[in-house]
Amino acid sequence: MMNRIIPATEKDIPGSAVIESYLASPYTSIKHSSYFQVYEEVFTKYRNRPITFVEIGILDGGSLFMWKRFLGDSARIIGVDMNPDAKRWESEGFEIFIGSQEDPDFWDRFFETVGSVDVVLDDGGHSNSQQIVTAHKVLPYIRDGGMLAVEDIHTSYIRQFGNPSKYSFINYCKRAIDQVNSRSSVLPWLRKHPSLIRDAVYACAFYESIICFHVDRRKCFISESTINNGVKPISRDFRNEKYRPSFDSGKPLRSFLRSIALIALRLVSLIFFGNSKILLEMISTWKMKKYFK
Ligand SMILES: C[S@@+](CC[C@H](N)C(=O)[O-])C[C@H]1O[C@@H](n2cnc3c(N)ncnc32)[C@H](O)[C@@H]1O
Repeated sequence: MMNRIIPATEKDIPGSAVIESYLASPYTSIKHSSYFQVYEEVFTKYRNRPITFVEIGILDGGSLFMWKRFLGDSARIIGVDMNPDAKRWESEGFEIFIGSQEDPDFWDRFFETVGSVDVVLDDGGHSNSQQIVTAHKVLPYIRDGGMLAVEDIHTSYIRQFGNPSKYSFINYCKRAIDQVNSRSSVLPWLRKHPSLIRDAVYACAFYESIICFHVDRRKCFISESTINNGVKPISRDFRNEKYRPSFDSGKPLRSFLRSIALIALRLVSLIFFGNSKILLEMISTWKMKKYFK
C-alpha cells in the first residue's frame, strides 16, 4: 500500500508552534497530520528548558531542525540512526549517534556516553522488535518528568511488519497498562515478576498511531486505600443491591422466581468460588459481549 503524502499546512492547528517549526525546517521531514496536535500537547512543557531530547530516525534531517526551533536553544538535541551519513548533521550542532535501535549493546554504549535524558521520540524503523527493544532499553534512562513517545504504532496492525502478532508492539503497550495497574494494592498477584514499567511509567497515553509513556518514578508507588477525617453519616452502600433478592408486589411471581434464582446462583458461587457474588458478576460481564464488536 503506497502512502499518499500531502503538503503540511498550518490551518489544522492555528497558532501551533510545532507546525510553525515543521514548516520552517530547511530540510525535509515527513510526519502524519495527526501528530502535530499530540506533539503540541505533550512536548510544550519542555520548551525553552535545558532538556535532552533524543529522536531515533533522522533520514533527511528535517525533524532535527524542527525540534531545535520548537524546543529552543537550551535543548540538547540528539539524533540516532543506522545510516552513517547522518553524521553530517553534527556540523549543524546536533549530536549524532550511529547504531541500530534494535541492538541492546548500542543503547548501553549510548547511555554510557550521554547519561540520562528527558525525552526519547522513536521515529525509527517502526518494527515490533525495534520498538520493543528501544522501550526496554531507554525507559531506565529517562528522567522523572520525561517521556518515551513512539510514533507510527499503526505498524502493529500491518502485515509487512509481521503483524498481527502476540508479540506486536501494540500488545507490549496493552501489557504496559496491566503493569501500571499492578501498582494497585488490591492486585498483589500482578506483581509476581519485576517490571520496569511498573516501577517507572506513571501513565501511558494512547493517541492515534502514537503512545506516550510518561516517566515519573516518584509517582509509581503501591497505592493504598485512604480515608479522610470527615464525619461518617450512616449511609447504605448500594454496591450489592443488584444481587439482593427483593419482592415486587406488582409482579409477585416474577420477583419470587428472580429471588429464588439469585439465591441459587449465590449459593453455587459460594460453593465453587468461595464468594457468593463471583458467578453473578461473570454472567453480567458476559452480557457485555455486544459492546466488544
Ligand atoms: C521515518 S524515517 C525518520 C524521519 C524523520 N524523523 C523525520 O521526521 O523526517 C526513519 C529513519 O529510521 C532509520 N532507521 C531504520 N531502522 C533503524 C534502526 N534499526 N535503528 C536506527 N535507525 C533506524 C532510517 O535510516 C531512517 O532514517
